[in-house]
Amino acid sequence: MPRAKIISTGSYLPEKVMTNNDLEEIVETSDEWITKRTGIKKRHIASDDQAASDLAVEAINNALKQAGMKAKELDLILVATVTPDTDFPSTGCWIQKKLKIKNIPAFDISAACSGFIYGLTTARSFIESGLYENIALVGVETFSKITNWNDRSTCVLFGDGAGAVILGPSEDEKSGILSSYLGADGSKGELLIKRAGGSLNPTTQKTLDNDMHYLEMEGREVFKQAVRVMKRSSIKALKTAGIEEKDIDLLITHQANIRIIDSLGKRLHVPDENVHVTVDEHANTSSASIPLALDDANRKGKIKRGDNVLLTAFGSGLTWGSVVLRW
Ligand code: UT7
Repeated sequence: MPRAKIISTGSYLPEKVMTNNDLEEIVETSDEWITKRTGIKKRHIASDDQAASDLAVEAINNALKQAGMKAKELDLILVATVTPDTDFPSTGCWIQKKLKIKNIPAFDISAACSGFIYGLTTARSFIESGLYENIALVGVETFSKITNWNDRSTCVLFGDGAGAVILGPSEDEKSGILSSYLGADGSKGELLIKRAGGSLNPTTQKTLDNDMHYLEMEGREVFKQAVRVMKRSSIKALKTAGIEEKDIDLLITHQANIRIIDSLGKRLHVPDENVHVTVDEHANTSSASIPLALDDANRKGKIKRGDNVLLTAFGSGLTWGSVVLRW
């Protein structure tokens, strides 16, 4: 059975940057509150004419370039997103069109902030089964398009971006994805939700008037679950991989809040210098947050061959998941 491996990484952030001071002009908030409570300093915002697939194509092209590969060598496109271009066709199909390739399968995975971990596990299964070899997996979000810019409790938290990886079979036995652990608890779905636009609440004048097409979050409740659940899922994935906490060379968690990231790092006994943080620069980009951070760490030379990397996420669903890999 071949082991699946991340061959290269790539990312894309929209040009427009919104700082905490910019937000002070829009809602009653302050740079001090946002920085202290979340660690966020700025976020990137897609332009009106940029859809999720536009961001994703840039990230995939950057990852292909790093791998020295052409789009036509891909066997599958996987997209983790909850802000797709359209409900259907999938964002994967729009990306395929923009990459100018035909016939290979493309589909979206909906697991919100855990989407990239769900995607890695899906890609891994396809590679290990021998069904596909070269897979482009991209986590992409345009949360600015579903943000209620009058709601200070959510609008300061999110940003747009895309992070991609190219996966393929590992050439040696030591490196690649060692383990995955996924979970969900649908009974807590109301904690982080976009209520309308689906079959439960189809779009009507009433859903529009009641602001039901924006994301809503019970932040404090989500916060309480986050550290506990990510710690549990990290430990399960580490155990399956046969890796001890002290042997984690790099921890990349979903980038939602610096307090959650720090707390998880401490509970897993990972020294601060081994915890990669981008929430200050990118804010919470949901399924794009881990691949954006991974590409940032990779390009800054923070990951060396042979390093044990733990990726762990948590989000709407509720969903969670962890992946342990050897670089
Ligand atoms: O990506 C999926 C996973 N998501 C997460 O992991 C997010 C988890 N949650 C969080 O990160 C935090 O709960 C938040 C950053 C969302 C909020 O931080 P908090 O420390 O839990 O604050 P809070 O919601 O308890 O609000 C504290 C106070 C409230 O005022 P009162 O009731 O104490 O008077 C809020 O009204 O802060 C107020 N507040 C704000 N003040 C200034 C809420 N938003 C803002 C704001 N600026 N933007």
